[in-house]
Amino acid sequence: MLEARDVVSGYGSVSVLHGVDLELDREEIVAVVGANGAGKSTLARTLAGLLPLRSGNIILDDTQVGASSSHSRARHGLIMVPEGRRLFAGLTVRENINLGRSAVGKRGSDPEPADVLGDIFPIIKERENQRAGLLSGGEQQQVALARALAGRPRYLLLDEPSLGLSPALTTQLFETIARIREHLPVGILLVEQMVDRALALADRAYVVERGRVVLSGTAADVAASPEVQRAYLGGAGSAPASDGPAAP
Ligand SMILES: Nc1ncnc2c1ncn2[C@@H]1O[C@H](COP(=O)(O)OP(=O)(O)O)[C@@H](O)[C@H]1O
Ligand SMILES: [Mg+2]
Repeated sequence: MLEARDVVSGYGSVSVLHGVDLELDREEIVAVVGANGAGKSTLARTLAGLLPLRSGNIILDDTQVGASSSHSRARHGLIMVPEGRRLFAGLTVRENINLGRSAVGKRGSDPEPADVLGDIFPIIKERENQRAGLLSGGEQQQVALARALAGRPRYLLLDEPSLGLSPALTTQLFETIARIREHLPVGILLVEQMVDRALALADRAYVVERGRVVLSGTAADVAASPEVQRAYLGGAGSAPASDGPAAP
């Protein structure tokens, strides 16, 4: 399990996270939702080791990693896909994906990750020799996910993967994330501003406001909560009644 305990972090003299507790198990998808500026990316960066922990603890499969580098955390199975994807535009799809393995220091006689991941990401088979810079945003996001998985994470942090994608491409992306869960034993932390989509996909969810977790629970319970309905889902604040059939 990946655990955050009373995590405090921030930038310069300002603390952004004020004591966040969070858990992510392998084989679950956990959404972190909240408004722009709530501290979601700060949380993802702190978990990944890109931002120093000011107090609290981060525990990765029973080992405290709060003081380790992001590289060390990646080698121990915690890998983040940052906002904005950041592929090497001049390298091919296959080269980008295979780099994800060398980035965590894994070598040897394993088959190339680009070959292993072909069932999850059709883009690999369709475009493996094309330069990443020529792909659409949705395709680049697939390659960024595949590159992260090439490092064989046990925990994968996705920061706003839908950013800049059309609704149709976002649907495709979320289908891909669902396929990852079916195929690989990896826990996925999905940071998203597309609250409805994220809650529909996730098993559990945390709502972050101003650097604090204000609500957590099963994704269904979080989605049904009047506060979340009102603030993020454009609903009137009434949870669906239990009488009558569920809407399709
Ligand atoms: N690099 C930075 N330097 C200083 N302040 C930052 C930096 N990045 C984010 N912040 C501030 O931290 C707060 C949380 O931002 P962020 O974690 O990016 O929110 P979210 O991802 O939920 O939109 C905001 O007030 C933002 O202005
Ligand atoms: Mg963000």
